[in-house]
Amino acid sequence: MTDRLTIRRPDDWHVHLRDGAMLEHVARYTARQFARAIIMPNLSPPVTTASEGEAYRDRIRAAVPAEYDFTPLIVAYLTDSSDADEMARGHAAGVFTAAKLYPAHATTGSAHGVTDVANIMGVLERMAEIGMPLLIHGEVTDHDIDIFDREAVFIDRTLAPLVTRLPELKIVFEHITTSEAVDFVKSAPANVGATITPQHLHINRNAMLVGGIRPHAYCLPVAKREQHRLAVRAAAVSGSPKFFLGTDSAPHAVHTKEAACGCAGIFNAPYALESYIAVFDEEGALDKFEGFASEHGPNFYGLPLNGGTITLERGATVVPDTIGEVVPFHAGETLGWKLV
Ligand code: NCD
Ligand code: ZN
Repeated sequence: MTDRLTIRRPDDWHVHLRDGAMLEHVARYTARQFARAIIMPNLSPPVTTASEGEAYRDRIRAAVPAEYDFTPLIVAYLTDSSDADEMARGHAAGVFTAAKLYPAHATTGSAHGVTDVANIMGVLERMAEIGMPLLIHGEVTDHDIDIFDREAVFIDRTLAPLVTRLPELKIVFEHITTSEAVDFVKSAPANVGATITPQHLHINRNAMLVGGIRPHAYCLPVAKREQHRLAVRAAAVSGSPKFFLGTDSAPHAVHTKEAACGCAGIFNAPYALESYIAVFDEEGALDKFEGFASEHGPNFYGLPLNGGTITLERGATVVPDTIGEVVPFHAGETLGWKLV
């Protein structure tokens, strides 16, 4: 039995660090575990221009304690009026690693998102030309589509046609939750990949709804049926270079989640690696963990692999009930691995 695993330093390819006091509170947890992270731009107002991106990057660097060697990778938030030249300029200047497509009103902070992909086709064409990755929150927002079907319907209505129209565009299908998403990504060309969160590996929709409503298990895309969780787990541990680590850690103050209309988002940054490795261990796939956590992401983005290593070993990690004003994923549980 493997009791200790040393891997190349990992990255988080999808995280919400927020701004202001919350940024000050949470930045350390991501920086403690990861060398780099893709920082989602759904602030209010969102990060849409290269100068806003640079200013946000400075605020993140200032919020990370000096003892951590951490590189934030900034992302542009696409709106109906995004400008191809501004995206290309931001990418060339090394400010924007990628751009994020939020369908308008799909999730937290998406009110300024894109109402129809046709509106940004010129921007996407330019991104395909210059090799700038498009990160997608893949859910339709049509009121007549059941919330549990919104990811699968997005594939048929938006993603599949987009991949056909712009076959060269690098696309990350973020935080996939369904067997349909797994199958789509597997059968798509090599320039289509996906991130997978720890929560979608650990929980199905029962975690949210059995024995009372559990707001801290609620995020978007919402957790699905068990068959989907098993498909996502199989993809994560498969060794396929198309699937990589993206926590979607999304902190919300406790009173905004424990409310009549609670916010979507799970704060998993503090013990993300301990949470992921538990899954690879359960699946007998510890040998696949380094690829998922540290290699597939940078290879997809065309970025260098990190130097240095981290070590995880078997042992109890007790997850606290709260961290500041935020309830973490696995609150009150004990995980079977710890970061050395
Ligand atoms: C995210 C947030 O709170 O910013 N929430 C979530 O449930 N994942 C937004 C997002 O990534 O959908
Ligand atoms: Zn997210």
